[in-house]
Amino acid sequence: MKNTQPIGIFDSGIGGLTVAKAIEELLPNEQLIYVGDTQHMPYGDKSPEHIRQYCKQIVAFLLSKNVKLIVIACNTASSVASSYLRSIFWEQVEIMGVIRPIILSIIEKKYKKIGIIGTQGTINSNIYETLFREYGSEVEIFQLATPLLAPMIEQGFINNEVSKAILDEYLKNEQFNDKEAILLACTHYPLIKNEVNNYFHQSKDILDNALPMANRVKSYLSEKNLLVTEKINPSIFYVTEYTENFENTSKIFHGSKIQIEEIDLK
Ligand code: DGL
Repeated sequence: MKNTQPIGIFDSGIGGLTVAKAIEELLPNEQLIYVGDTQHMPYGDKSPEHIRQYCKQIVAFLLSKNVKLIVIACNTASSVASSYLRSIFWEQVEIMGVIRPIILSIIEKKYKKIGIIGTQGTINSNIYETLFREYGSEVEIFQLATPLLAPMIEQGFINNEVSKAILDEYLKNEQFNDKEAILLACTHYPLIKNEVNNYFHQSKDILDNALPMANRVKSYLSEKNLLVTEKINPSIFYVTEYTENFENTSKIFHGSKIQIEEIDLK
């Protein structure tokens, strides 16, 4: 591996751009190769078997781009496909999911009770509960699947009547009342962070995967002596199905306009 190689990163759609943005802010010299699998979005309601196959094709594509590390910037794929992908590609590349970094950061902050919202796939996998217990944490958690949120956000429905009505419906669940923090366990959700915060009248910490993941990428590359020292190439963004909507919405996620190319992974 050379430090000048890019970092591969992927999600079902644009949600992973929230993670890409955090990595770019922390490590501005790194080149990212991003894949949004818009053809199969949302992953949240797909079977684990299908998600594993989609992810396998994406990882193979990223390897063809000579990446030095792969970040699964999607909770759903991290929940159901990360072990599978590592079992296939472990000799070629390090593959990291977004879940362990946020778990470690929550444990460090010593929360006692947290609420978690995510896709059906993430919540059904019970990965958060499993990993908290694996790390010996006794944090009390309440998890709720919120399947309408990722497609709603992907379509650009944020800060409006629609997003408010849907969020109210999910967040009114009284199990959230005594929680100190709410984890947005889907990389699309940072886009509605303010709305969630407002719903709870700023009374809870609202957490997401992006920064803990970016910090993990930095510490891994630094340990391996793989941090690039100067900016060589700009990041490249691919989708498996181009839509104009994606290009427009990606601007909100990424903060600036990005050039998107369509690829066929089959
Ligand atoms: N952004 C994704 C996640 O973190 C997936 C959303 C979806 O495709 O359902 O779970």
